[in-house]
Amino acid sequence: MLKLQKTPPKTSFRLRDLEVFPNTILSPMAGVTDPPFRRLCRELSHNRIGLLVSEFVSTDGSSDFAIKNHKELLFYPEERPFGIQIFGRDPLRMGRAAREIESLNPNFIEINAGCPVPKVAGKGGGAGLLKDLPRLALILREVKKSIQVPMTLKCRIGWDENSINVFETLHIAEEEGVELLTVHGRTRVQGYNGFADWDIIGEVARLAKIPVVGNGDVVSVETAFEKLQRYPIAGVSIGRGAMHNPWLFGKIADAWEGKPAAGISVSEAVLVFQKYYHYMMEDGMPPMGSLGRLKQLAARLCKGLSPQNTTFRQSLLTSETPEIFFERIGAFLESAVAEEMHFSPDHLVNLNGKKETEVTFERQFKG
Ligand SMILES: Cc1cc2nc3c(=O)[nH]c(=O)nc-3n(C[C@H](O)[C@H](O)[C@H](O)COP(=O)(O)O)c2cc1C
Repeated sequence: MLKLQKTPPKTSFRLRDLEVFPNTILSPMAGVTDPPFRRLCRELSHNRIGLLVSEFVSTDGSSDFAIKNHKELLFYPEERPFGIQIFGRDPLRMGRAAREIESLNPNFIEINAGCPVPKVAGKGGGAGLLKDLPRLALILREVKKSIQVPMTLKCRIGWDENSINVFETLHIAEEEGVELLTVHGRTRVQGYNGFADWDIIGEVARLAKIPVVGNGDVVSVETAFEKLQRYPIAGVSIGRGAMHNPWLFGKIADAWEGKPAAGISVSEAVLVFQKYYHYMMEDGMPPMGSLGRLKQLAARLCKGLSPQNTTFRQSLLTSETPEIFFERIGAFLESAVAEEMHFSPDHLVNLNGKKETEVTFERQFKG
């Protein structure tokens, strides 16, 4: 008899009139969480992801914001509840863009105050707003004035360790009508290195009148459970953990529903690439573009195979065409090596896959 999984004290939250169950969000990730990847996570979890969010959409530019110029705005009815995330530095442009985007009828519109990359944060958008909270307040005011659907905010805890200002950000968010705050527990300077500071996230949640979702390093049912048990957060937002383990949302939902935990076999793990490729083809992505996405997923997912097999991983990452990629998967599945392997992505903690000291922020985002 399989053990029933643990249920945390909180398994859902409210976003205005929406009851969000389970209390999980697929974190927006530019270049990753497009419709095919969202579909993969959705199908593998049998549609049990609390909220989905678009990749971020820029509102900056020399001409007026136009929906037709942003393919990231595309979403499907079955993805609801669905939010669209926008970023920019100009309050009026952000307000106008939000009004336009509301015509697509998303369930919420999210403001990004967390993106660390120089071409966003360096220009005053994304995490750059954490250096200019009055500007953030103006942006929130303009967006709020422009839309009827809930406005949400995603931020980091501050610019650097000497300027942790997430408590002020919370205050501004509440004043300006934000209805849900997601806090990524890193500073901008940290990029994606080191670990998220969950004590700070927890303190924000304790002080907040609005629901606060915690984000950073949730990689398993156990980590999701532990964060919800320890901190008064409304839910968890999961980014890179979904690339290591696109089944994770389903596993969390199973646990929250009191269903027994089931493992994932090596063949199940590896065959997920076919699903993903099929979704990309259906979405009209060119085969070579899809190959890039397959490799992106392979780089992370293969780390869950044990014992580690760098030959297989490398063979996928150096495939010249999708056909070669799938031939190599077929050969691997028929090999004796595969028979001796297990798939267990849950133990992963360092989502960068590199030693903390090996990656500096500058190196990570150079160019
Ligand atoms: C490749 C990549 C792209 C990202 N793009 C976005 C984005 O468009 N909007 C955003 O708010 N956060 C973005 N993030 C940050 C994630 O949403 C999340 O906050 C971060 O990865 C920490 O969560 P995790 O530890 O679960 O990955 C991105 C992260 C990665 C790795």
